[in-house]
Amino acid sequence: MIPVTKPFLPPIEDYKKYLDDIWSRNWLTNMGPLASKLEMTLKDYLSVNHLLYVTNGTVALQLAIKALELNGEIITTPFSFVATTSSIVWEGCMPKFVDIDPHTLNIDPSKIEAAIGPDTSAILATHVYGNPCDVEAIDKIAKKHNLKVIYDGAHAFGVKVNGKSIFEYGDISTCSLHATKLYHSAEGGLVITKDSELLKKIAHMRNFGISGYSSFSDLGLNGKNSELHAAMGLVNFDWLERIISRRLEITERYAENLKNIKAKVPVWHKNSNQNGAYLVYVLESEDLLLKIKSTLDSFEIFTRRYFYPSLSSSLPYLSPVDMEITDDIARRVLCLPLYYELTNDEVDWICRLILRSQNN
Ligand SMILES: Cc1ncc(COP(=O)(O)O)c(C=O)c1O
Repeated sequence: MIPVTKPFLPPIEDYKKYLDDIWSRNWLTNMGPLASKLEMTLKDYLSVNHLLYVTNGTVALQLAIKALELNGEIITTPFSFVATTSSIVWEGCMPKFVDIDPHTLNIDPSKIEAAIGPDTSAILATHVYGNPCDVEAIDKIAKKHNLKVIYDGAHAFGVKVNGKSIFEYGDISTCSLHATKLYHSAEGGLVITKDSELLKKIAHMRNFGISGYSSFSDLGLNGKNSELHAAMGLVNFDWLERIISRRLEITERYAENLKNIKAKVPVWHKNSNQNGAYLVYVLESEDLLLKIKSTLDSFEIFTRRYFYPSLSSSLPYLSPVDMEITDDIARRVLCLPLYYELTNDEVDWICRLILRSQNN
């Protein structure tokens, strides 16, 4: 069986060393030393000003929306994981979907202005598959209309634009360190902002709104992460370069083998690097996708229609709206297996099956 993804697991002995440490301290959560160390490590690695380690990428988004005091409508992409949209609704705001660019698969900045209304307070855009949005165009529109910008960078760990971290763009960026992500701490998320006041506010919000032993500065929730999760993040950090380079190697091998596939890959931001987060093809037709998927299924090779269906047409708590490009892409997009341990032979086998299925 070949899954579409497999969480990276470091040698257990390395993790056990951290467990011994945790046991000796008897400090399991509440901004412990490992969580702080992880924050410093990631802050340095990503070269960002301020960063907070939180429970997961969804809570990171909720904290971002709450901290920016957003209300009314938030312009967002229908082509993302459900947490992008659900966080908006959870925080009492209304998503206003704007269709995606058919080449980059990110929100199409040229369609944003037409969607701005008197109730619009922000833009929440996802760097889909780690491919940076057109951050310059979005920031320009946001400034012109006095809107806040949040980037959902759940997939974008380690990506840079114009030589600086993608997480430095927008008022707040978030990231997910979920087990399926290329770099993970089993569960986990990051909130990144250049604004130190905002960071302080989110740090209080992450801890129930508590600002001192007996004072509250804001409405809060429990967005802290534990020492056990931070330890996983620290151990995995030692493997990060190897993980990314292996994932990129695999990506290249797929590309080489699948030169004749009847599909396109997302057009990547030209001033940016790839991080090997996902292996994505937009097939020529949904019929071809279903054919390839069922061939692979029959060999217990699992793929994922990520993201399908479009968020704009499938959420029971929102009225459906047609999004021509997203609806079409969502029907034709397929993620293939990609994880550190996937072997070259397995990649070659998957590719042979795909080409055979396509040409039959
Ligand atoms: C685009 C996007 N946003 C948000 C999330 C939520 O992250 P988490 O699973 O860490 O809550 C995910 C998770 O897969 C995601 O893909």
